[in-house]
Amino acid sequence: MNLAATVADKAGKAWHQASTQLDQQRQQFAQDVVAGLSARQKTLPCKYLYDEAGSKLFEAICELDDYYLTRTEGQIFEYRLPEIAQALGPEVVLLEPGAGNCEKAEPLLAAMSEPVAYYPLDISPEILLAAQRRIQGQLPQLEVVPVIGDFTDPAAWDSLPKSHYRKVLFFPGSTIGNFTPEKARELLCQFSAQLSSGDGLLIGADLVKDSVVLERAYHDSNHVTEAFNKNLLHRINSELQGNFDIDAFAHRAFYHSLRQRVEMHLVSLAAQSVEVAGTQFHFTEGETIHTENSHKYTLPGLQALLQETGFNTKQYWTDNNHHYAIFYAEVP
Ligand code: AVI
Repeated sequence: MNLAATVADKAGKAWHQASTQLDQQRQQFAQDVVAGLSARQKTLPCKYLYDEAGSKLFEAICELDDYYLTRTEGQIFEYRLPEIAQALGPEVVLLEPGAGNCEKAEPLLAAMSEPVAYYPLDISPEILLAAQRRIQGQLPQLEVVPVIGDFTDPAAWDSLPKSHYRKVLFFPGSTIGNFTPEKARELLCQFSAQLSSGDGLLIGADLVKDSVVLERAYHDSNHVTEAFNKNLLHRINSELQGNFDIDAFAHRAFYHSLRQRVEMHLVSLAAQSVEVAGTQFHFTEGETIHTENSHKYTLPGLQALLQETGFNTKQYWTDNNHHYAIFYAEVP
């Protein structure tokens, strides 16, 4: 076979592999949506909020005045960076599950004393590769190895390079809040299982606070969160041959104080039927689809959760309003 034919053959195989993967992802999406809309309390997994449009909308949410989380976490990092870097210690391998564009790790790595390596783990190869080039440019001595995978899948962790240096797992952004308490416990146990004695976890979490502040963050005056929530219906319409009338649904977000979480829903404004992937679903007026939970922690609550899942809290930092916390904990 000549060279041109070999290259064409390889490209064909790569294209086939990628399209098979896409088909599988779409099938899984269809299965999850049909199962979620068939439940008594209709629900959709929040991970599907983040297609390309959803990720852009989430970035816009992070810039909103009403959405204090990103800004407050950023301020804690800005003011406390030297202390945080010191707590982590020298010659560390930093691992970041769900790293995205790795923007939060970059200043941390720059402040750390002789970091050895950075292993971001995420599903998007393009974003990770761009981040690798950027960070490598800033910190040429650092080994940066992007690992492609879903961090909630234990198999994805097998692809991380092995190292004899101390490891610190970096989990900012209050992502832990999008897991129910049981799932959060499972995830943190999965994290501690990856670590050895003396290794650490640096985690950011949103704190319980006045419900007015919380609800404003998820029902912002610019209606960006509404667009983010409704994008899920657009996505179902375009990817799963759905026929949702988007205007016949309203965005609702409220704080459930007993469950210590903000719940995001889409409320049907009328009795209606919707078809998705060939299946009919009926909605009564006022019936909701539960699309996301965002759990809020108290300082002792988070400390207890860390303790239960194999971590001893070493230090934590909050803002002046006690809206948000960053914890550093180690495996004893
Ligand atoms: C990604 N996660 C921490 C956000 C949160 O606050 O729970 C997602 C979000 N949903 C609505 N606004 C932001």
